[in-house]
Amino acid sequence: MMNQQAMRIAALSAICLLAGCSSNTMAAQNSVASAPAQVHTLSVNDHKTVPGNTEAAASRLSASKTGTTTMKTVTHPEAIDVLVNKQNKLPENYTPRDLVYADVRFTFKEKIEKRKMRKEAAAALKQMFAAADQDRVPLAGVSAYRSHARQKAIFEGYVRRDGEAKARTYSAYPGTSEHETGLAIDVSGSNGRCAATGCFAGTKEAKWLAKNAPAYGFIIRYPKGKESITGYTYEPWHLRYVGKSIAGEISRKQLTLEEYTAQQSTASSPSS
Ligand code: DAL
Ligand code: ZN
Repeated sequence: MMNQQAMRIAALSAICLLAGCSSNTMAAQNSVASAPAQVHTLSVNDHKTVPGNTEAAASRLSASKTGTTTMKTVTHPEAIDVLVNKQNKLPENYTPRDLVYADVRFTFKEKIEKRKMRKEAAAALKQMFAAADQDRVPLAGVSAYRSHARQKAIFEGYVRRDGEAKARTYSAYPGTSEHETGLAIDVSGSNGRCAATGCFAGTKEAKWLAKNAPAYGFIIRYPKGKESITGYTYEPWHLRYVGKSIAGEISRKQLTLEEYTAQQSTASSPSS
């Protein structure tokens, strides 16, 4: 026979199953810290149970409140300064129109999708890599454009490995990755050591990028100390092309793209 404690646990488990344990998962999703173990029981297919930054919720509730998070669909995904993040997703089936193979060194030989970028970003990347070569800090591309299907496969792989809450601290839910815009690229040193991993921080390549990338229109998109704003852990290798003028301002003022965008919309909103 069940004692009282066992009955309480059974009842809680039943509620959790029915309700999807949404309060835990919401908290985990909005946090960049490691999540409590119980949220790791969620699978990717459980997204419909998680209010907020989910594909199902987002497509149903474009620009509407979903629990603690507001998810919008961006209206101009092709804009060079487009903000794509945990609150702003790309439209379904968005594919950039002017993808080209970036003519720079990569850490792999194959001529595949992840060498591609939007035309303007690829041209700027080529100039930046040439400058880095001149400075004897040769760079290599690791991963640039990703289709929605590719981002989905990558994200799901991380969820299987680390659990969803943890995966969301460093990998974007499909539809919310800048890699899908063709304006982002992960960069390493030419030997590929520490490619897209924590040990890239502090390398001469990371230092070179932090100092010089803005002059070519790129920003370090997920800076150290801004995790609560970007929603992601520090990624010194993830560059986002925004054009020279915006990159210069973001770099000078030590902003994130979130902060820059908020400032722009405040400046342009009509005064009452
Ligand atoms: N690693 C970044 C957040 C992405 O998956 O797009
Ligand atoms: Zn990246």
